[in-house]
Amino acid sequence: MKKILVTGAAGFIGSQLAHRLWKDGEYVVLLDNFSYGLEDNLIFDDVDFRNEILRMDVRDRKSVLDLFRDNEFDVVYHIAGITPLPDCQMDPAKAVEVNVMGTVVILEAARRFGAGKVIFASTSAVYENNDDFPSVEGHVVPPGLIYPNTKYSAESFCRSYAETYGMNVTCLRFANVFGPHIDCLRKQPPVLGYLIREFYYDRSPVLHSTGEQKRDFVYVDDLVDLAVRVQDGTGFDVVNVSTNAVHSINEMTGITARAMGKEHIRPTYVSSDNYWKKYPELYEGAYVISEKALNGEVEKYTCLDNSHARDRYGWTPKVDFETGIYRTVTFGVEAIRRRGGENDG
Ligand SMILES: NC(=O)c1ccc[n+]([C@@H]2O[C@H](COP(=O)([O-])OP(=O)(O)OC[C@H]3O[C@@H](n4cnc5c(N)ncnc54)[C@H](O)[C@@H]3O)[C@@H](O)[C@H]2O)c1
Repeated sequence: MKKILVTGAAGFIGSQLAHRLWKDGEYVVLLDNFSYGLEDNLIFDDVDFRNEILRMDVRDRKSVLDLFRDNEFDVVYHIAGITPLPDCQMDPAKAVEVNVMGTVVILEAARRFGAGKVIFASTSAVYENNDDFPSVEGHVVPPGLIYPNTKYSAESFCRSYAETYGMNVTCLRFANVFGPHIDCLRKQPPVLGYLIREFYYDRSPVLHSTGEQKRDFVYVDDLVDLAVRVQDGTGFDVVNVSTNAVHSINEMTGITARAMGKEHIRPTYVSSDNYWKKYPELYEGAYVISEKALNGEVEKYTCLDNSHARDRYGWTPKVDFETGIYRTVTFGVEAIRRRGGENDG
């Protein structure tokens, strides 16, 4: 049995990962500061982690060092982070504190107290300025927005620790992840969470641009499967977690409507800049966000090569797009009901 720390364990991906590790018989230690995480994510049919999870901030150096001193972790999954892109753009210093400094705090604790392996949650957003598809791990055109920059910097510190101290560190660049525990009710939900929420309340989902933007979507169970496989990888590695296939937002909308019996509700199409309208601060101040950045995020195409994950770790994604959406809808509808029908339009 391995002793494994999962940060961000009350979030979408961290909670699913923690559950899988627990089912595999590992000893799991969960940590989250609940800035975005939900107690709801900690309740599974066969286990309830609500009383076990440590309410701790990854920026709190002393607490993190104490935690690592008291536990000899075999593996550390550093999943905690500020994920919503507009939130990072709105408060860049905080995004850097959590996503970069928080990662360095974890790496340093792992160095001092000897965690065998650190696995870091990075993102396909680092490829936002790439125009070579499918994007490969070895070629990143430096990103522009704050969120991908925090993750790209954090990756750089992962490399630094691996090379300087001989630690085993893997950065996983997640494509667009979907599956149960996706948060349908946060201010800026991931697109599938948003679609489920709008159809649930019989509203027409507002799609930016034509809806024909295509992205690489990976199902959470497949991601978790690869996250487990990389535990034994030595040295430093960066791995795309993707399907190397693309689907449009319109396609996702159609399948979601069908899964929810809401095919009669048609989406509403608006221009790209509406995506950022909930964030007026970005249009204030001496310098305002550029058209290029605004449109780039909405229009972006993602497709990540996954041959490294296949070749080195023997991994293949298994859950097809439609099946994954149906499973997410089943969970999402229940979660909205359970959480008392919060209705953030
Ligand atoms: N969901 C995706 O499509 C996607 C894609 C690429 C990368 N990622 C990365 O994967 C990770 C998990 O994403 P998610 O979708 O599960 O997001 P999430 O917001 O559901 O989970 C992140 C968790 O981290 C916690 N957290 C935030 N700041 C913290 C802090 N200072 N200390 C302790 N805990 C803190 C939050 O409370 C939350 O529970 C993130 O690092 C994200 O950047 C996600």
